[in-house]
Amino acid sequence: MSQASILAREEIPLWAYRLESKRPEEILAWAVETFGERIVLASSFGAEDVVLIDMLHRVAPQTPIFYLDTNKHFRETYETRDRLAQRYGKAFIQVLPKLTLEEQAERYGDELWKRDPNLCCNLRKVEPLGEILSHYQAWITGIRRDQAPTRANAQKIEWDGKFQLVKFNPLASWTADEVWAYIREHDVPYNPLHDQHYPSIGCAVCTRPVRPGEDPRAGRWAGFAKTECGLHK
Ligand code: ADX
Repeated sequence: MSQASILAREEIPLWAYRLESKRPEEILAWAVETFGERIVLASSFGAEDVVLIDMLHRVAPQTPIFYLDTNKHFRETYETRDRLAQRYGKAFIQVLPKLTLEEQAERYGDELWKRDPNLCCNLRKVEPLGEILSHYQAWITGIRRDQAPTRANAQKIEWDGKFQLVKFNPLASWTADEVWAYIREHDVPYNPLHDQHYPSIGCAVCTRPVRPGEDPRAGRWAGFAKTECGLHK
């Protein structure tokens, strides 16, 4: 972290210990109090993210929220964004890739996602994420430990070595049931695809519904040995 940063990197494990037993709302309040204008929420408008949007609206409504617009999200995802914007009176920051889809096709060929989903995720998600995060000292995400083995050790606060800033995962210890209980209790708008066997939603061209008994993330990049797009380690 830069010298001007608010929290010394060595203090992070101690804060992880202290925040572990706190409610997500308390973690968000502490995060925003600590980082002020230098913190941002990353939202794909999935179930976890709509919970965090609702919580942030209660504890710190001025906190900026961005979404990585790959230009390939489902129509339902864009509609969910618009319903949330209306409900919370919030404009979400649209983060676009450097290349339009046409420019990407010219440079790398048509439908890159079918041939090289890693490169496509890099161009349309990971690089734009690095660019927006360079303006902040901390980010908040909706990842949960039980989503994937790669996330099993996620802390409520941790150092993000890839993007070089502090990362908050306030829902790290929640189950999917807790997420849905919150959504119902607070009547939070959510992506209707979740009701159509899409537990995890990415780009329309790389996400399919899951079959009964399948892993919740089995619908992401199905057919490829790929489980993460590179936003999270
Ligand atoms: S992914 O890496 O496989 O795409 P996933 O869909 O599980 O991630 O979402 C995990 C968290 O990553 C979300 O809660 C959100 O914080 C962040 N995230 C994922 N996709 C986006 C996106 N398009 N825009 C902003 N944040 C995102």
